[in-house]
Amino acid sequence: MKKQALVLQMEGITKIFPGIRALDDVRLDLRRGEIHALIGENGAGKSTLIKVFTGIHQPDAGLIRLNGEEVEMTDPLAARRRGIAAIHQHLATYPDLSVAENIFIGNEQTLSGLPAISWRKTREMAKALLASLGSDIDPMAEMGTLSVAQQQIVEIAQALSQNAQVLIMDEPTAALSLRESEELYSIAKGLRAKGTSIILISHRLEDIYSLADRVTVLRDGHYIGTWDIGETNTEMLVKHMVGRTIDQFYPKKEAPVGEPILKVDGLSRTGFFEEVSFTLHAGEILGLTGLVGAGRTEVVEVLSGVTRPDKGHIYILGEEKAITSPHEALRQGVSLLPEDRQKQGLLLPWSVQDNITLPRLDRHKKRGLLSPGSEAKTGKEYIDMLNIKVRSGQDTAESLSGGNQQKVVISKLLTCGSRIIIMDEPTKGVDVGSKAAIYQIMCDLAAKGFGILLVSSEMPEILNLSDRALVMREGRISAVFTREEMAPEKLLKAAMPLDKSRKGSAEYA
Ligand SMILES: Nc1ncnc2c1ncn2[C@@H]1O[C@H](COP(=O)(O)OP(=O)(O)OP(=O)(O)O)[C@@H](O)[C@H]1O
Ligand SMILES: [Mg+2]
Repeated sequence: MKKQALVLQMEGITKIFPGIRALDDVRLDLRRGEIHALIGENGAGKSTLIKVFTGIHQPDAGLIRLNGEEVEMTDPLAARRRGIAAIHQHLATYPDLSVAENIFIGNEQTLSGLPAISWRKTREMAKALLASLGSDIDPMAEMGTLSVAQQQIVEIAQALSQNAQVLIMDEPTAALSLRESEELYSIAKGLRAKGTSIILISHRLEDIYSLADRVTVLRDGHYIGTWDIGETNTEMLVKHMVGRTIDQFYPKKEAPVGEPILKVDGLSRTGFFEEVSFTLHAGEILGLTGLVGAGRTEVVEVLSGVTRPDKGHIYILGEEKAITSPHEALRQGVSLLPEDRQKQGLLLPWSVQDNITLPRLDRHKKRGLLSPGSEAKTGKEYIDMLNIKVRSGQDTAESLSGGNQQKVVISKLLTCGSRIIIMDEPTKGVDVGSKAAIYQIMCDLAAKGFGILLVSSEMPEILNLSDRALVMREGRISAVFTREEMAPEKLLKAAMPLDKSRKGSAEYA
């Protein structure tokens, strides 16, 4: 059998940040036309390895061979020129520029023989590239007005515009619905068929199994191994990533369900959702699921004071309340873990402990002054509880890996001490070990009498954690199931659009 050509070899890669060895003697090789999954826990070093390869970071040791020839990736442009394109974990686009400008930035199309940029040509080529990806995004649209999924397609178009031989996707679906993820993945498969090599970083093992040809595991900055995907199974991969087996993934406890703490009656926001009514009890995890666009996030936004309803009533502990702002929501004992954590949840230049203590600074004041000791203590408590990977609570939030940043946002939420906790997609982008930790916290909180509204697209999460589940369809609650009644087919059926002619199952988000 002919051995496939190696496009990329990375050997002995070591990268040291002040106080941390993010990568220690790591290797990775990539064949032509393969999808190679790179997996590991939050903070394992995946994004760092990609940043070394794409010239964003310089390694402290190690070498990179591209098509057999040793190369130095001195800066991101050098990597681009060599046909390496990356969709980074956090989008790196220019929101104020047009789609076409984003695609061709640094590679603008000039009129032949003239130094001037031809915008017409740029536009046309952008349109053709997007069309080749099956997309009809307007090249003149402003980037910032597009959805995350559309922005990612633009980034792929940009990769194609440089005839990329290697495409890297770092956690590309964390912000996408299932259907958008499937579209992205079918594009990836198409590119593979044409010989492009792809490195895929994802915490969703389902994705790895449906796409990847081989998989490499990193743990704590170390190389653990590389396997053909067919030689592996989930249990083994989890064990390699986490270094132990996880036997209690869904630690659901039977907590006594207490008094109603949140009651919503006939809540409507025109154009988004209508006549939404439900009750959340103390000790209960209430699941809320449905397709993207069904109105889940919009309901949550009203409950947390981000937007106002047009109609309906909200009762907290039996008393009607008007939740006029996020601040008011907190005062009434309602906390929200937002879906978009990067934008809404963190002050990136601030330290981890300052972020954690921010919502309740009043607790750390002594005679009007902040007590650093008290802040550090609370910071440490949550760092330990959620196993946040830091050297100390003084590390800035921006120096943390993506998943660890999420755990800081969850800590913030927990410090508020609210009785009613709303979590919008709490485990997107979080590794398996931390998922188990977050589930444990949710179940512990419920057992202590908190009420949790769990908004999730992950069917197993809803099935295994919820005491009851609400399903939304086209802005209305279409079904309510008890724990005994819940089954995947029933949830799906309740979520599907009533108009059967519209394609269904693939849209479950
Ligand atoms: N610019 C930086 N300065 C200091 N430390 C950093 C920096 N970037 C990453 N690190 C540290 O290096 C380690 C590896 O981080 P990296 O972002 O590569 O993890 P990851 O595997 O991509 O995790 P995730 O799944 O959470 O995205 C972490 O401990 C992180 O805190
Ligand atoms: Mg990362």
